[in-house]
Amino acid sequence: MTQNTTGKTLDSLNLEQQIDLQISTSGPISVATYMGLCLTHPSKGYYRAAEPLGAKGDFVTAPEISQMFGELIGFWLVNLWQQMDEPKSFTLLELGPGRGTLMADILRVACRAPGFRDALKLRLFETSPVLMAEQKAKLDVYDPKWLQNFESFDEGPLLIVANEFFDALPIRQFVCKPDGWHERQIGLKDGKRAFGLSPTPIPPASMPDAVAGAEMDSMLEVCFGGAEVMRQLAQAIARQGGALLAVDYGYGTTQTGDTLQGVRRHAFADVLDTPGETDISAHVDFGALGNVARAAGLATQPLATQGEFLTRLGIGERAAALSGANPGSANDIRTAHDRLVNADQMGTLFKVFCAHSPGLMPPGFAA
Ligand SMILES: C[S@@+](CC[C@H](N)C(=O)[O-])C[C@H]1O[C@@H](n2cnc3c(N)ncnc32)[C@H](O)[C@@H]1O
Repeated sequence: MTQNTTGKTLDSLNLEQQIDLQISTSGPISVATYMGLCLTHPSKGYYRAAEPLGAKGDFVTAPEISQMFGELIGFWLVNLWQQMDEPKSFTLLELGPGRGTLMADILRVACRAPGFRDALKLRLFETSPVLMAEQKAKLDVYDPKWLQNFESFDEGPLLIVANEFFDALPIRQFVCKPDGWHERQIGLKDGKRAFGLSPTPIPPASMPDAVAGAEMDSMLEVCFGGAEVMRQLAQAIARQGGALLAVDYGYGTTQTGDTLQGVRRHAFADVLDTPGETDISAHVDFGALGNVARAAGLATQPLATQGEFLTRLGIGERAAALSGANPGSANDIRTAHDRLVNADQMGTLFKVFCAHSPGLMPPGFAA
């Protein structure tokens, strides 16, 4: 067992103490290292230790707001499965399935399509043991398997969904200075964690073209982990056919700006406070993910807002049908619809990204 200089085992230290010990012995750490420790430290990371989702957790996601979100994605998946001539075997993979709510809603409607259930191989990719247990309880009837990596898949096409997964992957941040870009780091100042910059400049020529000529002090965020996930999955789709749908807050073209954010108990929180107890995320650079997908040979759709996507798929009609069947819940259904779709709520902030085999025509995007 590892011991520090005071003779305590590392395990007996809380995450905050472990991070501060690492910084004081080895020097400042990158934002990505800090974010990775905070979110997925094996025993004390945010997603490893507790239940982050829902009214009692720190935030609420679209599938937890209304069943309509998952149901419409279920119809979307059936549409693609039909466009692929209803393969007798295909993989449906969800990245970061949370409490299993999205997939349960998807499969409740999708399995009504004759042949879909028999052809389905359900795969989940999850880091949290707490959430895995919830996924198992909700989805066991569909015989799910949890993947450790994306090295191999069963025969047949892949349909992949991810809601608020890519925003949870660690980002690196770089700040533009006269002598080049400097990586943002977290060190200790007067015994407290504080942001600083690496003294070593990175030449502007090494940075993406999209930030050439950026203003002094502007910040670039790069999510290498997200790009690697996309590369592996896009290559698998290029080999086997299929599509990937990702919903998240983000932007369509690589740009500068600081989007790192902490959320605790449904309010913004300082990312440097209470490591392991605060959700940390960053907006997703869908422009960069699209470049990776296209380099693997996939086609991509123009980014849609969540409001546009759900409206094109018929959320208005679905809300009316649900309200007709449950008049007592009509107000709640209207509130949930507005929360998912309206521009001043989630409708514009959240974007929908799709990469797919050339030849498929995923519904919900501008023609
Ligand atoms: C913000 S939650 C979204 C959950 C769910 N998709 C929803 O919409 O309710 C992020 C999900 O991604 C998972 N996750 C985060 N980082 C991960 C990682 N590095 N590997 C696998 N899963 C991860 C979390 O445990 C959680 O299930």
